[in-house]
Amino acid sequence: MIVLGIDTSCDDTSVGIVNNLEVLANVISSQDDLHAAWGGVVPNIARRAHQENFPAVYQQALADAGVEEKDIEAIAVTYGHGLAVSLEVGLQEAIKLAQKLAIPLYPINHSEGHLVANFAQTGEEPGLSPDDITWPALAVLVAGGQTQLVKVEALGKYQIIGETVDDAIGEAFDKSARLLGLDYPGGPQLAALAEQGNSQAYDLPRPMRQSKDLNVSYAGLKTAFLRLVRSLIDNPETDKIPSQLTTSQKADLAASFQAAAIETILIKVKKALAQTDYQHIFLGGGVAANQKLRQDLTTLAQKNEAQLHIPPGIKLCRDNAAMIALAGFLASQRVKPATNLDNLDRDPQLRMDE
Ligand code: KG4
Repeated sequence: MIVLGIDTSCDDTSVGIVNNLEVLANVISSQDDLHAAWGGVVPNIARRAHQENFPAVYQQALADAGVEEKDIEAIAVTYGHGLAVSLEVGLQEAIKLAQKLAIPLYPINHSEGHLVANFAQTGEEPGLSPDDITWPALAVLVAGGQTQLVKVEALGKYQIIGETVDDAIGEAFDKSARLLGLDYPGGPQLAALAEQGNSQAYDLPRPMRQSKDLNVSYAGLKTAFLRLVRSLIDNPETDKIPSQLTTSQKADLAASFQAAAIETILIKVKKALAQTDYQHIFLGGGVAANQKLRQDLTTLAQKNEAQLHIPPGIKLCRDNAAMIALAGFLASQRVKPATNLDNLDRDPQLRMDE
């Protein structure tokens, strides 16, 4: 089944095409440069860029996949969670296409996309199939807008067992990176800088480590990092901070922050594994690209005799629409498509357990 997926949940315009679980195209037009000057995503700039970029991204996806519009058998689109004005652009394009081609439309939860990215087949080798999984499985979703631990009873049956009570892990990476003078989104650059540094150089908290639940907090870590950085310099004005730090201080700060951010979530993953005998762990979201997180989670999974799955390729970890197309294909096997497309609305706060 050829499914075309659309994701405009935040600041990337993406169209992906799959044939069942096989990824045929995954085009992402990044808006990072447009938002970098502002240090974060500006909703109106994002909406306009989605509107302008969509036609070219759509045509490129068809060309990459080597399919024509008439070959598409279903549309899948992210309708939540995300930025309302951004979600609206993708949803409108999806509805227009589904009506024009008279094909079914599957509204998809963005987080479910990050989970099912693990089933993407990208090469000659057969990928992971949902039939290979012993349920329940544990999903660790770590992104710029979200941090969640999800008990996956089966595809489509989710229970959020832990989540951030404030900021997302990726947001904490980006804000801390900014303090070190790195451009938005600074997470990957902070991770690269951390490789040169000593993760024990500075003491940072692991917020909520003692709480019995599986929730995490990243606002506390972000504030502790700001305080630490300010304690090292004379002029605390945010844009003057980077020039007052030495190269080795920056590397040590990055390494110490990264260690704290990762341990904070791993403490709760460990607790989740102690509560339930999960045999499979799925990682997903932009922060899944982080090498230290991958290594530490691999070690933890091995200790618990669980298998860790990571989406094949960094492109499938970050926001992308091939994962939405995959979720659409998998949804088509268990649920009916949307009816009454004219009333279909975005849901910026959509949760995975709804
Ligand atoms: O899933 P995603 O593309 O979109 C959002 O949910 O926003 O995730 C993007 C996030 C950003 O915060 C980015 O800095 C972070 O993922 N990220 C990383 C790494 N690569 C991307 N954070 C830490 N280490 C990385 N290697």
